[in-house]
Amino acid sequence: MTLRGAHILSTDDLSRERIEYLIQLAEQLVPYSQGIRITRVLEGAILANLFFEPSTRSRISFGAAFNRLGGAVRDTVGIGMSSIAKGESLRDTARVISGYADVIVMRHPEVGSVKAFAETSRVPVLNSGDGAGEHPTQALLDVFTMVRELGSVTALDGLRLTVIGDLKYGRAVHSLVRLLARFDRVHLMCVADPELQLPPAICSALRQAGHKVDQTSDVRAGLAHGDVVYATRVQEERFASPAEAKRHRGRFSIDRSLYEASAKPGAVLMHPLPRDAREGAQELSTDLDGLEQLAIFRQTDNGISMRMALFAAVLGVEDRVEETARESTWVARREL
Ligand code: NCD
Repeated sequence: MTLRGAHILSTDDLSRERIEYLIQLAEQLVPYSQGIRITRVLEGAILANLFFEPSTRSRISFGAAFNRLGGAVRDTVGIGMSSIAKGESLRDTARVISGYADVIVMRHPEVGSVKAFAETSRVPVLNSGDGAGEHPTQALLDVFTMVRELGSVTALDGLRLTVIGDLKYGRAVHSLVRLLARFDRVHLMCVADPELQLPPAICSALRQAGHKVDQTSDVRAGLAHGDVVYATRVQEERFASPAEAKRHRGRFSIDRSLYEASAKPGAVLMHPLPRDAREGAQELSTDLDGLEQLAIFRQTDNGISMRMALFAAVLGVEDRVEETARESTWVARREL
């Protein structure tokens, strides 16, 4: 198996074999992601981190993952601060930046933009979100989290997954369910207002691949279904107006009493983050924070090792991580 030189633009680029390979690699890289072991395998390499849409965790997470492998990171943030605002085409930007860096991560508000960008890039490009399109590395870290929470990759076969919230515009959900479709007999329950349901094309692709897809707007039924419950934020920035988005705010808030009354015992709670903490939103209420099954911050931690795995694999150095490895000389911040 090699991903050397590959772009990761959509879940179409990720076969089951590739997913399992990356999960295994991410697991090996956990001590490095936490700074307990140090590797310099990407010393001298440069990541260009291009974020033309808001981001906190994805941008920092990609950068931290690259740094943990010994590489250096150059960032640009926001269309207004880049030459795209001067009318430069994505094709030219890609040609230029790929002369400066060894790998590029990009987020952009238009569906398909990262794919178009990759066409003229001479180095691997990872899609960190193209509008309401896809977010394949988020899906990989989510699936990696499910494997760690449920105890094995085989738990993904026959998985009962509930996705809740803005399923129309939520690219994290789009990529997640498409990635899980590589496994067997997934039973998906989609909880959303009818106008924010999962796009029909994604539903029918899942059904054609032999999976079961149900839709409801009853959050209790959704909670009763899932071994994993994946909540999402209303993607306000994709709506025609904030007022239209606000109509959906807080429709499916889950708090501890609802979870305890309705969820399958032991159901794992996930969310790509950010949670919308504004009055009346609260997809996953903060009163869930002490709950063992709330996996949202393990998810973000797992994101570092999965992104390290991706960089190591597309740059073809995954077999050389140990060559430069040593124990950390400073006290690790976190326990394993
Ligand atoms: C998601 C995104 O940007 O699509 N965030 C993330 O990358 N973790 C989800 C969201 O913004 O709601």
